[in-house]
Amino acid sequence: MSLEASHRPRLLDVRNLTVHLRVADRILRAVDGVDLFIAQGECVGIVGESGSGKTTLARAMLRLLPPVELAAFSGEVIFNGKEIRTLPDAALQAMRRQGTFSMVFQDPLGYLNPTQRVGAQIAEALPSTLPAAAARKRTLDLLREAGLREAELVTRRYPHELSGGMRQRALIALALAPSPLLLVADEPTTSLDATVQLQVLETLRHLHRDRNMALAVITHDLGLVAELCDRVYVMRAGKVVECADVFTLFEAPAHPYTARLIELCRRGAPRMTVTADGALA
Ligand SMILES: Nc1ncnc2c1ncn2[C@@H]1O[C@H](COP(=O)(O)OP(=O)(O)O)[C@@H](O)[C@H]1O
Ligand SMILES: [Mg+2]
Repeated sequence: MSLEASHRPRLLDVRNLTVHLRVADRILRAVDGVDLFIAQGECVGIVGESGSGKTTLARAMLRLLPPVELAAFSGEVIFNGKEIRTLPDAALQAMRRQGTFSMVFQDPLGYLNPTQRVGAQIAEALPSTLPAAAARKRTLDLLREAGLREAELVTRRYPHELSGGMRQRALIALALAPSPLLLVADEPTTSLDATVQLQVLETLRHLHRDRNMALAVITHDLGLVAELCDRVYVMRAGKVVECADVFTLFEAPAHPYTARLIELCRRGAPRMTVTADGALA
């Protein structure tokens, strides 16, 4: 883990980001004035309990908003010097194709096309200028890089024919297709069993290092963050309550909520929740 990473130029700079959702007749402050940055090649964790706004924040950072009516979407999201919150859709699509950022989700089946073989899906995400033979080779390379040794076989499979871990790796390969500078992984291992979790974690670590790719890991699991990240943002009820390097966070958490999350993590009791005053419930 390298702390000097956070002193490199900022790849992503989020300022006062606010996403309020209109749900039934209520306004839900899913993300409420968040400031956050990710430096080039840095690995940042975003932690917090379920419902604290992590996924909404991640999606808003990459302009993938939830399919509900927005009551507010404001603040600045500057990626590589460009404001993307207000960028027109066409310009945003061009940025995506040029390999600026990608996202990996908790539920790979929801993001892979069920009617198309894995190989074809990845080839489609590659630059359209690539000749067919080169695209085929690149697809196999990406699958191997994502940790799938039987890459040939996987290209011919449909998503439902793969195991959970293989599917998550196929989604990682798909996310790598545009050679992103930043990969945002939202609960990348939550739906996997323990052994596979560790292996996928190891793959993410290698990708981050070998590609010098910035990585944002979003999770309710502080243990995962301790393994992987340089710096951590702690979210609670739509706000960032603490930001620290991972060592400081565990040694001397500044916020009682963080201290309780650490306690939960050490007890291995992920289903407990932390109440408003920091008590365990
Ligand atoms: N599409 C949606 N419709 C209704 N409520 C939503 C939607 N997406 C998020 N929320 C609400 O926004 C809040 C933050 O959710 P989310 O960003 O998914 O948190 P996390 O990823 O930390 O679990 C929660 O209260 C959640 O119920
Ligand atoms: Mg989430």
